[in-house]
Formats: sequence, C-alpha cells, structure tokens
Amino acid sequence: MAAIVPASPENIERGARILKQGGLVAFPTETVYGLGAVAFSPEAVARIFEVKGRPRFDPLIVHIASPEMVFSLWSKLHPKVEALIEKFWPGPLTLVLPKKETVPDIVTAGLPNVAVRMPAHPVALSLIKMTGFPVAAPSANRFGRVSPTKAEEVARDLKEKVDLILDGGKCELGIESTVVLVEEGRFFLLRPGALSVEELETVVSKVEMTSPRRILSPGMTKKHYAPTLPLYLFEGGAEEIPILTLKDFAILSPFPLPADSQNIVVLSQKKELKEVAGNLFASLRELEKSSFRGIIALPVEEKGLGRAIMDRLRRASSGVVRVEKGRVVFVDK
Ligand code: TXA
Ligand code: MG
Repeated sequence: MAAIVPASPENIERGARILKQGGLVAFPTETVYGLGAVAFSPEAVARIFEVKGRPRFDPLIVHIASPEMVFSLWSKLHPKVEALIEKFWPGPLTLVLPKKETVPDIVTAGLPNVAVRMPAHPVALSLIKMTGFPVAAPSANRFGRVSPTKAEEVARDLKEKVDLILDGGKCELGIESTVVLVEEGRFFLLRPGALSVEELETVVSKVEMTSPRRILSPGMTKKHYAPTLPLYLFEGGAEEIPILTLKDFAILSPFPLPADSQNIVVLSQKKELKEVAGNLFASLRELEKSSFRGIIALPVEEKGLGRAIMDRLRRASSGVVRVEKGRVVFVDK
C-alpha cells in the first residue's frame, strides 16, 4: 500500500529509487497529478495500465526534465518544434513526434509516434532528474475518472496499487496539457488543454483542428472524464438560468450569478478562465461526495482556455439540459 508523503527532497529521492527499481510513483505536475514509471521499462509501464484499468490502445505521455532528453525519445526534430520548445517548455504542452526504436511499444500503444512534455513543476523535474530516465506518466486516476489535482484524490483512486504518492499540494493549472501532433511541419491539435491554441499560434502560424487523415488521440474517447454524479451541460440563454434552480441539482457556474443559492458552485469569483480551469476537476470531485442528484454545468465561451474547459465538460456529461416552455428538460446522450 502506498504511503502518501510530503514531496520533500528526501522523499523525492525515495521516489526516484522506487522508479529505478521498476516501481510506480504518483507525483504533482503543474497540470494534474501523474502516475509515473521509467519509460524504458516495459514491465513497469505495463503496471501503469493495470492499476489504472487503462486500455492498452491508449498511449502515454513521456515526461522529461530537460529539453535535451528528447534526443533519447524522438527520431527527428523540426525547427518549428524547437521554437515551440524554446517558448513553452517547461509547461503544459505535449508534442507528438516520430519515436526512436528504443522507445517501448507499450508506451506508445504501438504507434510510431511518442508524446513528450517537460512539466513546469519543481517536484516533477527533480524526480525525473534524480531517476535519470524519462518517466512515462498518465494522469493518476482510475481510467475514466476525473484527473486528480490533489494528492488525496490520487490516494482515493489508487492508494492500494501504487508504491508512493508524493504530495506537492494542489496543482496550479488543474487541467491537462495541450497535445499537439507534428507531421511534416504541420501542427494538429489532438487534445485542447492548459495552453491555448491562440498562444501556440504566436509561434506557429496555424494549429489545425484535425488532421486530413483524422488521426485522433486514442485516449480521446467520447466519454472520458466522468464524475460519478450525472452532469448535464446547460444549453440556453442567461435569462433562463433562474428556472434551473432545482434544489436537488448543483449548478456549476464558471462565474458568479446574480442569484445566490445553496446549490450554486462558482468556479471563479474573479471571473477568470484560468481560475475556472484550476477549480473544475477539484469541484467535480467535491460534488461527488455531496447529496445532490446531479450537476448542471453552465458553459463558457469556446476561446482560449475556454476550449479545453468545454472539452472536459462535454466529456464529463451524461447529456444536456434545456428550458422548454418554462420547464427544465434533461436529454441524455
Ligand atoms: O497534463 C498532462 O498531460 C498530464 C500530466 C500528468 O502530464 N498527463 C495526462 O496524461 O493527461 P493522459 O495519459 O491522461 O493523457 C494523455 C493523452 C491521451 O489523450 C493520449 O491518447 C494522448 O495524450 N497521447 C499520448 N501519446 C500519444 C501518441 N503517441 N499519439 C497520439 N496521442 C497520444
Ligand atoms: Mg487521463
């Protein structure tokens, strides 16, 4: 059974020893907690799939502690990729490029490409550095659950099954990295995330939404981030929101509402998307412990970080809710 320990230098060293021996260590990043194993150890990586209950067709992101570590993973680079790395690493950007033969197939689910990112978190960086190898790490949740942004949430999902949980407090960004496939100098968005397309396009001229061959991120199954309470996405105008105040449903609102009621959960009092993203997963996990029958989530505009927020809400949802002739109507997916 895993100990949940503060991410002190001694415990990070202990984590590195466990990783080198083929164990599994959960650690904080700036996005969400990751569940790590040495990427070059197929046996250790196999255990990640096992403990998460994750299907083998869903490849893992490999985490590195310095840009130079990509040379052990990617077989080729591109000048525009170097510019992205220069600007956004360490940070919430995952780049997918052709892999070296030495990268185990289990990491990439047999795909010819490997996803890599350098996290902007001192604990993650020092753990990887002390381990001396790239660390394959999906989010540290059971498959199909909301990604954990706190060590206690990792423990709730996986405590019995991992070797160590390093507690580094709440993850600052709270939403996963943006995943971009690089193919022949073109850039395709595989998963919207904490780094917005608008920011990426300050460095590369265009990020395309899907590739011509429709290569999707295999992990992007339609329903993926599921809270255990049914979540319905509200489709309608602001003037209809007061009609929604069904007492047994929580209203998850990005920003403060004119009305105030026990069942309204506001994600950002400051009205900032960054704060909405940062609190989203933690609030969903909190609501799961409540006595509400379900959650009604109000949308944000699909711009900047709003794209990733709406992507996660859609994936978490069981359906939509509308107001028709003054009545609240739930429509399941
Ligand atoms: O912020 C994050 O990205 C977090 C932290 C721990 O770094 N990690 C994370 O990993 O969210 P995971 O496994 O939950 O999501 C990885 C995503 C999946 O959608 C997966 O399909 C995609 O990245 N992916 C990984 N390798 C890929 C590859 N070779 N080709 C295409 N997509 C890939
Ligand atoms: Mg995940």
